[in-house]
Amino acid sequence: MPVYFDDAFVPLSQARVHPLDRGFIYGDGVYEVIPAYGGHYLRLDAHIARLERSLAEARIANPYPAQRWAEILTELLSRHGGGDASIYLQVTRGVAPRDHAFPDCPPTVFAMPRALKPVPTNQVERGLKAVSLADIRWQWCQIKSISLQGAAMLRQQAIDAGADEAILHRGRWVTEGAAANVFVVIDGAVVTPPPSNWLLHGITRDLVLELAAQVDLRVDERPLRLKELLAADEIWLSSSTKEVLAVTQLDGAPVGDGQPGPVWRRVWDAYQAFKADLRAQ
Ligand code: PDD
Repeated sequence: MPVYFDDAFVPLSQARVHPLDRGFIYGDGVYEVIPAYGGHYLRLDAHIARLERSLAEARIANPYPAQRWAEILTELLSRHGGGDASIYLQVTRGVAPRDHAFPDCPPTVFAMPRALKPVPTNQVERGLKAVSLADIRWQWCQIKSISLQGAAMLRQQAIDAGADEAILHRGRWVTEGAAANVFVVIDGAVVTPPPSNWLLHGITRDLVLELAAQVDLRVDERPLRLKELLAADEIWLSSSTKEVLAVTQLDGAPVGDGQPGPVWRRVWDAYQAFKADLRAQ
C-alpha cells in the first residue's frame, strides 16, 4: 500500500517513525480523516483549511501551502486506485530530544489511504445506541489533535455499557460525540451546538446543515442543553466515516419511537444523493 511519509511516496512497510518523534512521545500532533467517493474527495479544501487551523493553533510548522497539500493528497488517492477511500493524514511536531518546550525541528508528515467501507446497513436502518457521559477531554477540542486518550476512554466506556457511541456534555451543555458531531430535532427544527473550543468543527456537520436547509428544514446553531438532548424527538451523529446516523436509544431509553426518524431520513437521502453526484463527477 502506498503511503506518503517524509516528502516521498513509499510502501507502508518502508515508512519508519523515529521513537523520539513528538507524536509518539507526547501525542504532539494533529490529524485529518478525509473521505473520497469514486476517486473524488468530499470537501478537500475544507479539510485542508481545518488542518491549517489545527497546525496554527497547536503552533506546529505547516510544511506545505494549501495547493501542495491538495497535490499530495490527490496523488495519494490516485495511487490508491479506485473505489471509495478515506485518507488518514497526520502531522507531528517532529523528532527531537525529549523536552516539553517546543523544539526547532521539521514536522513529520504521514498520510495513508484505506478503503472506505460502506456504513453498515443495520446501523442505517436501526440506528445507534448512545450513552450520555461527562466530557472529560481537554479544553481545546477545536484542534483535531492526535492526543485521543480521553476520546478513546469515553468511546470504550460507551461500548462497555453496550452502546456504540458516547454523547458528551460539560455540565448542562452538550458538546459532541467521542468522535462525531451531534444534532437533535426539536419541533421539526434541526439543532446543533455552534463551533467553539468545546467541539471539533466537523466537515460533515457543515454538509449536514447545508443539506438540511436544502430540504427545507429549519436549522438552529445554538447551545444545546442536556435536558433537551434527553427529550429530543430525534438525535443524529455525523462524521466523515459515519456520514449521518440516527441515534435510536439513549441511556437505555428509546429516542422518539425508537426508530430512525422521518427528519433524519430526509437528510440521509440528501447525503446519499450528494455522494452519488461526487462519484459521477
Ligand atoms: N473523527 N468530533 C470529533 C471529536 C471527531 O473525532 C470527529 C471525526 C468529528 C466529525 O468531524 P468530520 O465530520 O470532519 O469527520 C467530530 C474522525 C472521523 C476520526 O477521528 O476518525
